[in-house]
Amino acid sequence: MREIRAGLLGATGAVGQRYINMLGHHPFIHLEVLMGGESAGKKYGEAAHWLFSDPIPEQFARTTVQAANPTAAKGCDLIFSALPSEAAKDIEPKFAAAGHAVISEASAHRMDADVPLMIPEINPDHLDLLNSQRKRRGWKKGIATTPNCTVTGLALVMKPLLDAFPAEKAIVTTMQALSGAGFPGVASLSIIENVIPYIKNEEEKVANEAKKILGSLRDGAVKPNGILMGVSCNRVPVIDGHMETLYCEFSTKVSPEGAIRAMETFRGMPQKLKLPTAPDQPIIVRRENDRPQPRLDRLSGSVPGMSAVVGRVRRGVDDKSLQLTLLSHNTVRGAAGTAILTAELMAAKGYLG
Ligand SMILES: NC(=O)c1ccc[n+]([C@@H]2O[C@H](COP(=O)([O-])OP(=O)(O)OC[C@H]3O[C@@H](n4cnc5c(N)ncnc54)[C@H](OP(=O)(O)O)[C@@H]3O)[C@@H](O)[C@H]2O)c1
Repeated sequence: MREIRAGLLGATGAVGQRYINMLGHHPFIHLEVLMGGESAGKKYGEAAHWLFSDPIPEQFARTTVQAANPTAAKGCDLIFSALPSEAAKDIEPKFAAAGHAVISEASAHRMDADVPLMIPEINPDHLDLLNSQRKRRGWKKGIATTPNCTVTGLALVMKPLLDAFPAEKAIVTTMQALSGAGFPGVASLSIIENVIPYIKNEEEKVANEAKKILGSLRDGAVKPNGILMGVSCNRVPVIDGHMETLYCEFSTKVSPEGAIRAMETFRGMPQKLKLPTAPDQPIIVRRENDRPQPRLDRLSGSVPGMSAVVGRVRRGVDDKSLQLTLLSHNTVRGAAGTAILTAELMAAKGYLG
């Protein structure tokens, strides 16, 4: 794979730091430009409120944070964006207009009809939307996006189930970690010894984004998956790792054993291509009654944090329904990891030029 020079928008935030953590030793993506908002002009080591126990890699600690301007990223093939949505709305198109490929974590452009919303194991063909986006908007490379952190693990688990058994309805209840709200996030007095049963705009995003990702590409557009979804989102006092319970109704009989087989044997294009950030097994199924757990299982798998971990797979109210619990690491699989995997897929498929 040819060497790729990358820039990072939102480098100092919770997700930006995960990129720094994951890209220190990437075989062909080299993170060269760090960009921020209020921290522009400072050394990264002074500007970032570093959240990991490993120190900031030396090469990044000494780097000066640049303003979020395409001229700062001149020479970069690819821009990762970990900007808040309001900032991403205008800033990301400026980078795309300047000829960069942008892969965004923000919600601003996820649901645009000509913007792919990617989980590389599920919908690698959706990258084809970039071709119409380039034509329509006159951009050389364009914007691809990755989903909300709650959607990533959920859609990954739903994909093999829906492929194996036609599904009608999914009811999802989430228990979302604090780092999902960025830094400083939820006030400590609001969340310690507490659960908050509301996350603004989250329930709509989970349903709409999952349907787009699980939808099919026809005549140059994504037809969303028709499954009915009910979603309840909760914030819980866990640092990293979103847990979710999924209840699914199917139009045919389904057995827990059949569902487990479908999930455990699921592999996608990243596994076939042996992309560096692709876990050997995208879904790990635990048999113990008390797993998965965020503290114990969020970094599972051959690429730590890139596999969804499922447990408690059991029959629902009848033999056409199933229940299970799933866990995925929100800043790895739910954010930087899926974006890096998307970049690797785009490089392998020639979308980065
Ligand atoms: N946290 C998660 O688990 C997760 C998962 C998936 C997706 N996301 C999405 O990823 C994005 C980043 O989330 P986060 O949790 O990392 O947020 P965060 O901790 O609040 O970080 C925001 C970053 O954006 C920069 N920024 C803010 N306003 C800016 C502006 N006007 N111009 C340039 N830079 C600006 C900040 O830089 P300064 O510090 O220099 O101001 C900071 O680096 C959001 O869109 C979020 O919804 C988050």
